[in-house]
Amino acid sequence: MKREKIQATLFDSSEQTLKSRTLLINKSKLLEVLDNLLALESLQELKIALRDLRSHLVSPDRDTIGVLNIDSNGDTVEMKYGYLMGELSQIEQTLTLERARYYLERLKKALTEIKTNRINDINLNRWKEYDEIITDSLWVFDKRDTSGAHLAWYWGNFVPQIPRQLMLRYTKKGDWVLDPFLGSGTTLIECRKLGRNGIGVEINPEVAKRAEQLVAREPNKFRVKTDIVIGDSAQVDFRGLFRERHIAKAQLVIMHPPYHDIIAFSDDPRDLSRASSVDEFLKMFGRVLDNVTPFLEDGRYLGVVIGDKYSKGEWIPLGFYVMNEVLTRGNFVLKSIVVKNFEETRAKRNQKELWRYRALVGGFYVFKHEYILLFRKKGRKKR
Ligand SMILES: C[S@@+](CC[C@H](N)C(=O)[O-])C[C@H]1O[C@@H](n2cnc3c(N)ncnc32)[C@H](O)[C@@H]1O
Repeated sequence: MKREKIQATLFDSSEQTLKSRTLLINKSKLLEVLDNLLALESLQELKIALRDLRSHLVSPDRDTIGVLNIDSNGDTVEMKYGYLMGELSQIEQTLTLERARYYLERLKKALTEIKTNRINDINLNRWKEYDEIITDSLWVFDKRDTSGAHLAWYWGNFVPQIPRQLMLRYTKKGDWVLDPFLGSGTTLIECRKLGRNGIGVEINPEVAKRAEQLVAREPNKFRVKTDIVIGDSAQVDFRGLFRERHIAKAQLVIMHPPYHDIIAFSDDPRDLSRASSVDEFLKMFGRVLDNVTPFLEDGRYLGVVIGDKYSKGEWIPLGFYVMNEVLTRGNFVLKSIVVKNFEETRAKRNQKELWRYRALVGGFYVFKHEYILLFRKKGRKKR
């Protein structure tokens, strides 16, 4: 087989492992190589040619990998090094020529066709490349992402990885994300990082002001809009807000309400953390839900981040109560209950031994998790 010169250049020169680094590949040349491989008549010939190709791709020390020669004709495609090598090695390990050809065709498709589920930018023809996206229902984060404008100053904030994961799964670039319990602005900072527009509502004016300053510190390379509104999400005029911004609907709603009275966020009686009882808290949550969700596009997602609480020797399953509050509305389908590890608050960390002792005495377990409840709004055909 005539050996084609296709050059691939390492696209990002960060300290990532070679496997997760991105190659910039001359697409038409790689397609030509794949066509030549497809034309081979025996499996043995094909395996030799593949081994040859792979050995030319392995050159971790250099910025330009092997013989993949870019002609700078603009016909380039980005591809994760690990993904390309994995696909080639899978083809090399096949036992039949038919199977090898099937994988070669699949790789060609991955280079030329985009397949999405229309609610995100994930190219399903290249799904193996999306290492970052979690698909399991147990999320364990060792540490919070503190990159960019994320500062972690706000007691009761969530880790930026939560809105990030939700946006990657449930939105496309340019979509609108609505967060009615904005707090320190974590969602809007992630919006800027990922190229999504966002509106956040926060009841506490001082917190909203601080959030605004923080969000503004995050570079806005995708030129998205990230607006903050001060108000009570149960009463804010979302119709007017959306009309002013020429938005039809939001494509994702992320709700991270207070976990009832665990943290008192303000003295405002409309603040959910000021609810006089769990029932009252659920009623207030329901009012926000009813005011917000008409502005979520049908078929799109609502994510609720919530933890349980402990009161007078009893575990209060706020998470399940809140889930029920959404489901009884009848217009949402429960898609997932994600359990996420819970960072210890500084106060709890200092009292770790004491909490362990209390747990042993009281017959309960110390909270180490919270929930991310995922609902799809009914209305459109199932995707
Ligand atoms: C758990 S915190 C959200 C933290 C946020 N995810 C972050 O990363 O900073 C809940 C927030 O909701 C706000 N809040 C409570 N009741 C509200 C209401 N009725 N309308 C709008 N915001 C409210 C609180 O002031 C608090 O900042």
